[in-house]
Amino acid sequence: MTRRLLRLPLPELRIGCSLPIRLEDGRPAMLIRLADGLHAYLDACPHRGSRLIADPAHDEREHRDPYLDATGGLILCHRHQACFEPQQGLCLSGPCTGQRLTALDVTIERPDGSPAQLVLKSWH
Ligand code: FES
Repeated sequence: MTRRLLRLPLPELRIGCSLPIRLEDGRPAMLIRLADGLHAYLDACPHRGSRLIADPAHDEREHRDPYLDATGGLILCHRHQACFEPQQGLCLSGPCTGQRLTALDVTIERPDGSPAQLVLKSWH
């Protein structure tokens, strides 16, 4: 059974870019656009539960993406430089190697022909 976590107008997001979002229950999450579509995960590292997002001040100076590395091909923990592959959220290196980010179900709905909306749901 799935549970709806967020509904919002479909954000514009280029391929290889990410966006911090907040779920209806207040938890932080990330939305990532890859060539194969949109992916979403809770912004919580599997080994500590802390956020992966880059420090916003640092981010501005470096013009960094909030979650992805410079190639747009990996999600980074900006504190520990752990790398997660963005299709499945699997940690490839770092203190939580082999563990996964919590993936969210992403769908795009157009209720009654209105503008596209992004809907995020949990898998459980
Ligand atoms: S908090 Fe887990 S890798 Fe940084």
